[in-house]
Amino acid sequence: MSIRETAGLGGERRRFVVITAALAALNGLLFGFDTGVISGALLYIGETFPALEESAFLEGLVVSGALVGAAVGAAIGGRLADRIGRRRLILLAACIFFIGSLGMATARSVEWLIAARVFNGIAIGFASIVGPLYISEISPPDIRGSLVTFNQLAITSGILVSYLVNYALAGQGAWRLMLGAGMVPATVLLVGMYFMPESPRWLVEQEREEEARSTLERIRSEVSVDEEIAEMRRMAEVEEAELGDLLQPWIRPALIVGIGLAAAQQVTGINTVIYYAPTILESTGFGSVASILATVGVGVINVVMTVVAILLLDRVGRRPLLLGGMAGMFVMLVVLGGAFYLPGLGGVLGYVATGSLMLYVAFFAIGLGPVFWLLIAEIYPLNVRGTAMGVATVVNWLANLAVAQLFPQLFDLIGPAFTFWLFALLTAASFAFSHYFVPETNGRSLEEIEADLRDTAIGGEELSMAERAEEGD
Ligand code: GLC
Repeated sequence: MSIRETAGLGGERRRFVVITAALAALNGLLFGFDTGVISGALLYIGETFPALEESAFLEGLVVSGALVGAAVGAAIGGRLADRIGRRRLILLAACIFFIGSLGMATARSVEWLIAARVFNGIAIGFASIVGPLYISEISPPDIRGSLVTFNQLAITSGILVSYLVNYALAGQGAWRLMLGAGMVPATVLLVGMYFMPESPRWLVEQEREEEARSTLERIRSEVSVDEEIAEMRRMAEVEEAELGDLLQPWIRPALIVGIGLAAAQQVTGINTVIYYAPTILESTGFGSVASILATVGVGVINVVMTVVAILLLDRVGRRPLLLGGMAGMFVMLVVLGGAFYLPGLGGVLGYVATGSLMLYVAFFAIGLGPVFWLLIAEIYPLNVRGTAMGVATVVNWLANLAVAQLFPQLFDLIGPAFTFWLFALLTAASFAFSHYFVPETNGRSLEEIEADLRDTAIGGEELSMAERAEEGD
């Protein structure tokens, strides 16, 4: 069922859930904005701090500082979300986003700038965990996929906004404004979230059932409130988990899925395009202005295809989009590598390269982009959810950092053709992994998914979760 269809049924309650989810998705907008904005800002920061132009190492730190901070934020964010609650962690992240953006915009030295990037990155890490987590916990199962995917839509919108801000401010060298612009959404998030409820699932965990009930009454029909509370209580009684408990046999399959998809989402190369698109496009023969415009085009395609994914995820399920999307990415990477391999990039092949680059982003946006963030919010049992999502998200940030660092070197060392073919190979491996291990979660409650996971471990370890999902039990 789509958001529009269900909105009629639940009226005001549905609207409240959608508004809350949209507000929480500002976490994603800031995540996208702050990771995307640096590519353009970097062109001008060097004018203020000449040290940057002399040292590729320092320049690298300015870019990847946010990724380092994000890995740290994700590492502690899962625990914090379980301890202080989802809502309070979002409020904390909003404060850090605000102070971090202010710090970047007012930097008086390179060290100051890098420190502010890392600090701000911690908020990106928090946001990457608590955004999808909170949204998945307030959503009813039938529109959960669409709502959690709001978050990926917000990330891609944030990236697009950052490209547009960069484009608008380019030439004036207003890098302080570019980096400081994040203060606006941070303020909206802080003020808006103050009025939003805590996740009912977390409240039940904390034995604050009355509060959970009154929240649920605002977002569900009365019948489902009792049922849901009872289910949450049952799940909460399962004893508390620590990091070591993630290795229990019945959680292991979900842990492998989360970590595998986290790595797959990054090692298939998406952020080489997101962070380096103008450079890649320039090498196909575009002039600089045309490359920046084409980069805005990449941002638009990313957003549009994410909208398509939102419309499809709850209808056709997660697996078809994930697998179909990766098949498309694979083909486009092979073509892209071919265009760079053959001579004559300046002519027709330049268009082939640009076209396949854009289609590659489209296929990412319809599958691997949203499905990773959605699945890690769905497949973990309540008592380990925060911790396990933390692990998957940290792996995602570390893989992001590794690819962002290695890509320019690979490009120089083995050339663009073999770099893209390497990504194609890694996409094929990711496809095989997903085919065998990733379960279908569409239309099932978080509790059903959890019960199924237990059965898998207890009933027969020889069956993978994906196989069970296919058997439809
Ligand atoms: C996903 C990835 C992120 C990437 C974005 C691009 O959210 O996790 O690393 O930048 O998609 O749309």
